[in-house]
Amino acid sequence: MNDWLPIGTLDDIPRLGSRVVETVFGDIALFRTAADEVFALRDRCPHKAGPLSQGIVHGKRVTCPLHNWVLELESGAVVAPDVGCAQRFEIKLEDGRVYLARS
Ligand code: FES
Repeated sequence: MNDWLPIGTLDDIPRLGSRVVETVFGDIALFRTAADEVFALRDRCPHKAGPLSQGIVHGKRVTCPLHNWVLELESGAVVAPDVGCAQRFEIKLEDGRVYLARS
C-alpha cells in the first residue's frame, strides 16, 4: 500500500502546462492535461536531459523543448521513431490536491 506525500494542488499547475516540484526523489515535473488529468515525470528528458517541464503539453503527451522528442505522460515512454523512457511517478488527485506515492 502506498504512502502518499502531498505535493501541491491542481490549481498550482496551469492547464496544458506544468510545474516543477522539488521532492526527496529529485525534481519532478507535474503535467496537467486539458481534461485536468495530472501526470508526473522526472524533469529530465531521456535524450539529452532537457527540462520536460518547459515542453508543450498536447493530449496526454509532452514535446521536449530541446529537440522535439515526444513522450507519453502516462508511461514516460518516448514515441517512435525515437527511443527511451523518462522516469514516471505515481500520483493521485483527491479533492483538488496532488499526492505523490512514496513507494
Ligand atoms: S533533450 Fe529532449 S529531445 Fe533532446
